Amino acid sequence: MFPLPNGVAYNSYLINDEKTALLDTVDAAISAEYLENITHALNGRQLDYLVINHMEPDHCANIEEILRRYPSVKVIGNPKTFQFFRQYYTMDMSDNYIEVKEGQEICLGSHTLRFYMAPMVHWPEVMVTYETSKGILFSADAFGAFGAISGNIFADELEYDSYFLDEARRYYTNIVGRYGNQVQALFKKLSGLEINMICGLHGHLWRGDMIPYIMDKYDKWSKYLPEKKGVVLAYGSMYGNTENAVNALAVKLAQRGIKDIRVYDVSKTHPSYIISDIFKYSHVVFAAPTYNMNLYFPMDSLIRELAVLNISNRKVSLIGNHTWASAALKNMTEMISNMKNMEIVGTPIDIKSSLREDREGELDNLADAIYESMDD
Ligand SMILES: [Fe+2]
Ligand SMILES: [Fe+2]
Repeated sequence: MFPLPNGVAYNSYLINDEKTALLDTVDAAISAEYLENITHALNGRQLDYLVINHMEPDHCANIEEILRRYPSVKVIGNPKTFQFFRQYYTMDMSDNYIEVKEGQEICLGSHTLRFYMAPMVHWPEVMVTYETSKGILFSADAFGAFGAISGNIFADELEYDSYFLDEARRYYTNIVGRYGNQVQALFKKLSGLEINMICGLHGHLWRGDMIPYIMDKYDKWSKYLPEKKGVVLAYGSMYGNTENAVNALAVKLAQRGIKDIRVYDVSKTHPSYIISDIFKYSHVVFAAPTYNMNLYFPMDSLIRELAVLNISNRKVSLIGNHTWASAALKNMTEMISNMKNMEIVGTPIDIKSSLREDREGELDNLADAIYESMDD
């Protein structure tokens, strides 16, 4: 569903104590290497527990094979975990599973695992596991990111901001973005715990200064608050006329001193990148032509997906284009006004085929309105 030019990591954790415990498995794409790693890490020992924090196939593809190899393993989940297991897989594991409740603990020797339910972060069965002796949170998809790991497994061991943050944001906003309230509820639930390390199911591990760093990002993303001022201009264009108006507006914004202007062609860039930047910045301009008496469909689906993800608190400006009948601007206005706390900035412009010089003043007015609203 998502382009992964930098790859993605599927994380699974093994605790070697008096009892052994595996926390989640991985995607089918890497089963062979994964099972080899488990055999190596167990070094001849039996596997006592398999904790399923998240029953999505990118983390569950190897449960059946683990059960075949370690038939006495106890599988830990909640009632929904097992319901989903039965929907995806055919193996009967009724003799293997232990259903746990909120706050229940399992002792492995010197480590103790405590379970907290985290519904809809990102599926209804999700739970997180807190290891009490070291303060390690196994956070399921929360605090995950796109981007494969290259040697360094901790986020503090590399230039996270330059190389990985964009992919962490693209992961969160597109995959968990809709469930901001549930992420906030989980934060509240965990607020009393001492957390020294966060181990998610995708991407780097968090410890030290990087814990408040990623918590701050997650807090903004899950409250739908922009990280910084800036304008994302997303456009669709048939013959370059809408594109031309957007480029002219982008330059006018820059001339007024606005920084961080991002221009995207919705026909060329995968929506996940545009959505991620719209979560990042304070302002957005949508510009698209009428197509078949409707809004040009890639723009239509971009705005619909933003609504599904519950994006709110953004300042939005609109440009439509049409030759004989106008629908794009009307549709965009309707869709934006149905979203929460989205303020329309400036007077929307409805271009007729191409932006003539005598209408450049409208573009200047729009640039002024966006500039003035940057300080609010
Ligand atoms: Fe997931
Ligand atoms: Fe995942």
